[in-house]
Parts: sequence; structure tokens; C-alpha cells
Amino acid sequence: MSVRPAGPGDAEAMAAIHEKSFPRGWSAGEMRTLLSGKGATGVIDAGGGGFALGCVVAGESEILSLAVDPDRRRAGLGRALLAALEAQCAAAGSARMVLDVSETNAAARALYAAAGYGEAARRKAYYADGADALILDKQLR
Ligand SMILES: CC(C)(COP(=O)(O)OP(=O)(O)OC[C@H]1O[C@@H](n2cnc3c(N)ncnc32)[C@H](O)[C@@H]1OP(=O)(O)O)[C@@H](O)C(=O)NCCC(=O)NCCS
Repeated sequence: MSVRPAGPGDAEAMAAIHEKSFPRGWSAGEMRTLLSGKGATGVIDAGGGGFALGCVVAGESEILSLAVDPDRRRAGLGRALLAALEAQCAAAGSARMVLDVSETNAAARALYAAAGYGEAARRKAYYADGADALILDKQLR
């Protein structure tokens, strides 16, 4: 696996992975808009196996999306993408990473817990299916 920085030119590959990973996919156009936004930063597996997209604002960063192709999961790619995004955000001046994850998303919760994220807050019934959102965070430096 080889993870590299992502840019607007990766929008189609990222949208294809996103569509396979979430109930509501983001179009390539939506992905391009996100990648072109202020503070946007992303990483992608060179083999098209997954991506992570974040945003750095005022010394803090947020994970907007992280997804691995269903055929490529449980091989360490999610962990590698997360670590690469954290490093990129830290290099851009971020001291803290924040994200939200459904309380029902066992795979993502296990990945984030193993990477050192802790629960900062909970938003009741945040998602369309009624699940709570967990707000997780981690100090990057
Ligand atoms: C969450 C996701 C990105 C993980 O990607 P991945 O490449 O399979 O993750 P990794 O192989 O790097 O796993 C790293 C660790 O996370 C945990 N983990 C990952 N998937 C897991 C699962 N299905 N069940 C339990 N633990 C899991 C394990 O601790 C794992 O380490 P191990 O394999 O040594 O036990 C992937 O499942 C995915 O794309 N899910 C759909 C999209 C999504 O929910 N994104 C997150 C939104 S917040």
C-alpha cells in the first residue's frame, strides 16, 4: 500500500470509494468542491483502495470522510490513511483532530480507539437512522 496526498484530480476515484462505503454517496463534483475548499487536505491510496479527507481551520482539524473499498478492508489501509491524514494536518499547523462517528459504526470506532481517539461529546439522534453521533478527538502535538 502506498498513501499519497490527494487533490481535486482524485475526486472521481474518491467518490467511487465513498459510494461503496456510505448509504448516501458523494458525487465527484461534491468531492471536488470539498477538496478545493479552504483548509481542505486529503490522502489517497495510490492503488485506489481508500482515502481520507480532512479540513484544517484555525489550528484544529476535522475528518470529513474516511473510507476503504470493501474488498480492501482489514489489511491496515484505514489505519495508514488515518495516520497520513493526521501527519498532514499536523504539518499544516493543527494541534487537535476532531471527527464524528455513529455509535453503531463498530469498525470505525475500533479503528479510532486503537489510534488514540477519545470521546469528547455525544449528539443524541444525530444521524438519519436515529443513532447518536460520538464526537471523538485526539491531540496531534
Ligand atoms: C472504518 C474503515 C475505514 C476501516 O478501514 P480498514 O482498512 O478496514 O481498517 P484497518 O484494516 O486499518 O483496521 C485497523 C484497526 O481498526 C479496527 N477495525 C477495523 N475494522 C474493524 C472491524 N470490522 N471490526 C472490528 N475492528 C475493526 C481493528 O482494531 C483494526 O486493527 P486489526 O486489523 O489489527 O485488528 C472501513 O471499515 C470503512 O471504510 N468503513 C465504511 C466507511 C466508514 O464507516 N468510515 C468511517 C466514518 S467515521
